[in-house]
Amino acid sequence: MKVSAPSNIAFIKYWGKQPPLNDQTRNLATNSSLSMTLTRARSIVEIRDSSESRDVIEVFGAPAKPKDQEKIVKHVERICAYLEITNRSPLLVKSDNTFPAGTGLASSASSFAALTFALIGHFKGRSFLESSIKTQLPFLSALARRGSGSAARSVCGPYMLWDGPSARAIPCHWKLYDTVLMLSKVHKAVPSSEGHLLAMENPEFSDRIKRLPARTAAVLEALDQRSISRLGPLIEEEALEMHQMSRTAPNPVDYLLPSTKTVLHAVQNLKSRNFFFTLDAGPNIHFISETPIKSSIEDLLRNLNIKSEIWEDEAGIGPELL
Ligand code: PMV
Repeated sequence: MKVSAPSNIAFIKYWGKQPPLNDQTRNLATNSSLSMTLTRARSIVEIRDSSESRDVIEVFGAPAKPKDQEKIVKHVERICAYLEITNRSPLLVKSDNTFPAGTGLASSASSFAALTFALIGHFKGRSFLESSIKTQLPFLSALARRGSGSAARSVCGPYMLWDGPSARAIPCHWKLYDTVLMLSKVHKAVPSSEGHLLAMENPEFSDRIKRLPARTAAVLEALDQRSISRLGPLIEEEALEMHQMSRTAPNPVDYLLPSTKTVLHAVQNLKSRNFFFTLDAGPNIHFISETPIKSSIEDLLRNLNIKSEIWEDEAGIGPELL
């Protein structure tokens, strides 16, 4: 079984995990989050029976690192428990991305969404998976969430509200673009699993949690009205606040590079613009707009003498069975 699932970019961030941290309640968030599902940035997961007497896990064409192997096998066990499969044969799991991992393009979201779907399809067949997608999407979202929180929002699209154990699509079909400035392809030093917990130690964290329901409602309204001029300032404020929580925590983490800060500063000082930024837990900048803006970003980079690859993406609808 082979499934491709998209990444997503959060407009309201999942940054903080709710205790208790046991496996059933794993990755429950301290707040509701809201995201745009992407189209091109995807993970492709293929699952077959292994020809060896053990699970073989390959990530980007090479044997998985022990930590990744452990996370993936754990997720296999969760899905088996959900499907009440007690006696399974060893699996060959191949996971690949259309984009570099660990760079703020939320590869864990797409990979755990794809893994969840591919496992269900492998064990129960394609038509069971197709009918689960139609009738059991909240369960699939909650299962993906236990692999990686943000994966809960990669099971459908184009806009997902994750509120409680699972995420659901909100009725909005606005075509927005996400133009990503790939300032670094290096894997981030502090994984988001740790980043969540460190940010929660910030004394300002509880005030952020109190502010979020109003900001989330405002984002939902901006999506409903398809108003980029209302949406833009909200997502920028949210991204900066998430990073501030990490940067000013007792154990601070700064995910941004000097070049990220230079570009953000230049963007904030533009007299007029038709794009707005957001950030994941990484140095790369996502520019959200109603039209393609690659050439405006290239002009900006030229003026700043910064070289960067640009990834062009747009709002999308979710996983595909291949
Ligand atoms: O799913 P995780 O644990 O990798 O958390 C990622 C959280 C952010 O990407 C930083 C924000 C979000 O809501 O996607």
